[in-house]
Amino acid sequence: MLSLPCRRILRTARRSGVIDLDGKVAVVTGAASGIGRAITRGFVAAGARVVAADVDEAGVARTAELCTDPGAVVPLRADVSDPADVAAAVETAERTWGRLTTMVNNAAVSIPGNVLETSVEDFDRMLAVNLRGVFLGCKYAVPALLRAGGGSVINMGSVNSLVAEPVLAGYTASKGGVLMLTKAVARDFAALGVRCNCICPGWVDTPINLAHAERMGGIEAVREGLPDWQPLGREGRPDEIASVALFLASDLSTFMTGSAVVADGGMTAI
Ligand SMILES: NC(=O)c1ccc[n+]([C@@H]2O[C@H](COP(=O)([O-])OP(=O)(O)OC[C@H]3O[C@@H](n4cnc5c(N)ncnc54)[C@H](O)[C@@H]3O)[C@@H](O)[C@H]2O)c1
Repeated sequence: MLSLPCRRILRTARRSGVIDLDGKVAVVTGAASGIGRAITRGFVAAGARVVAADVDEAGVARTAELCTDPGAVVPLRADVSDPADVAAAVETAERTWGRLTTMVNNAAVSIPGNVLETSVEDFDRMLAVNLRGVFLGCKYAVPALLRAGGGSVINMGSVNSLVAEPVLAGYTASKGGVLMLTKAVARDFAALGVRCNCICPGWVDTPINLAHAERMGGIEAVREGLPDWQPLGREGRPDEIASVALFLASDLSTFMTGSAVVADGGMTAI
């Protein structure tokens, strides 16, 4: 429990912040690490309450501890490829805080390889987590968002929703699907007050890239070569993607739906 002065400071910080998520209730998947952890922390700092879902139970507990108000987070073990787990995450938000206003479908896995190298099992796994997981997140969240009178779905795509790169065939296929699923959901539910947008990050400093970096000669070689293909010349930080999610969750983006919002350090401008 935070002391009263502490809570006052938090309230002031939220009010002075550009983005106010006071009253928003979110589910964030893949919340144990990287971008999902940064989104959870950013949402809570802006006044939202969050069900932080991930297969990594210890990781989501740690995410809650790192938030400015750990009491605003329910850490939950959930596998996004499992319909029962995704339904339970949505139900937890509604049971705990009475509504769901925001669904962030962020969890993903990446297993590098071209189509010859990628096993059928690995391809199925990427599709199950990265695309079926987003489908389930939309399927179970949209009815809850409608019960809340409308809301925002934020799907985590990638620059690979827009462009392919070498030896990432299965991941790229899954992320292309995420963008088109985003557009389908946006069209089907716009008139009912549910917005759905897709964030497309470039290379961000998180563990998901480690196997891919190995294929590219190791993470240090990737960092050295970055200026050649990501013009800002450095890896993105998870909080730089989280700030896009904050905007899409907020009432500053109420005219946006079906969009691919690119935050890639200029990678796709080349
Ligand atoms: N890091 C990048 O460069 C980059 C670039 C473009 C897009 N993205 C996307 O950003 C999102 C977040 O990735 P990240 O970079 O933070 O990576 P990360 O590896 O740090 O986080 C991914 C999280 O997803 C969780 N997860 C994996 N399978 C799951 C499942 N079945 N159910 C629930 N949770 C599961 C992991 O436990 C982990 O906590 C992903 O959708 C990723 O594709 C990342």
